[in-house]
Amino acid sequence: MSNEPLVKMRGITKRFGGVTALQDVDLDAYAGEVLAIVGDNGAGKSTLIKILTGVYQPSEGEMFLDGEKLEMASHSDSIDQGIDAVYQTLALADHLTPAANMFLGNELTKRFLGIAVLDNKRMKSEAARVLDERLGVRLRSMDVPTDSLSGGQRQAVAIARAVYHDDLRVLVMDEPTAALGPQETARTLKLIKALREQGLAVILISHSLDDVFEVADRIHVQRRGRGVGVVHTADSTVQDVLGMIVGAHDVAA
Ligand SMILES: Nc1ncnc2c1ncn2[C@@H]1O[C@H](COP(=O)(O)OP(=O)(O)O)[C@@H](O)[C@H]1O
Ligand SMILES: [Mg+2]
Repeated sequence: MSNEPLVKMRGITKRFGGVTALQDVDLDAYAGEVLAIVGDNGAGKSTLIKILTGVYQPSEGEMFLDGEKLEMASHSDSIDQGIDAVYQTLALADHLTPAANMFLGNELTKRFLGIAVLDNKRMKSEAARVLDERLGVRLRSMDVPTDSLSGGQRQAVAIARAVYHDDLRVLVMDEPTAALGPQETARTLKLIKALREQGLAVILISHSLDDVFEVADRIHVQRRGRGVGVVHTADSTVQDVLGMIVGAHDVAA
């Protein structure tokens, strides 16, 4: 972990009409770490990461990537800056192959008799390479519809699509294990660790404190739109974090 945060969010406030979803939130994320964001329903977790990924614009506050101010009008701006997200509701086209999904909207082409045609062979080999080299995943066949894969493999395809961009630096995952069984969850946590080893900043939203304590280096706790604290996983317990989520310490104070 380097000393300067790769991502800095400062004083982020977001209002939807009369609803204040976020109030003056600061967040730091470092290259080579997994930062978890936890909090009850409605605490502002998804809104916070939608701001980081350009989906929403903050009402107030500023963001920096590697010290440079981030200005994003849309999610494609965040992808251009090396910030992408994988959502629980995976936007995969079920009937297409893993390679077709990975390159959807970004197809590789080759020239044939002077005309640009899809380079299916190269998309397939590139997809297999990224799955293997970056995520340690080898599919039995690349020539199958994506809906024939397991939940964990589908997750890997969605992650591969994001990490294929060589300049990806920050990957946000919103509840990546929510729909998965225990074995698939373990595999997904392994993928997350592999991405951390590759130097990405991984930001993980999860309801599962088991997953969070297994994989995160630090935990940012949101409560009712506010950031109420950040702890190092190594120095804290599930009980400590639960207390912060529900505000037990406020009552005691
Ligand atoms: N598009 C929206 N319009 C109005 N209110 C919203 C919108 N998105 C989120 N909110 C409100 O903002 C608050 C935070 O929501 P959200 O970020 O989804 O929380 P979490 O992901 O922690 O469950 C909630 O009160 C929610 O109802
Ligand atoms: Mg949410």
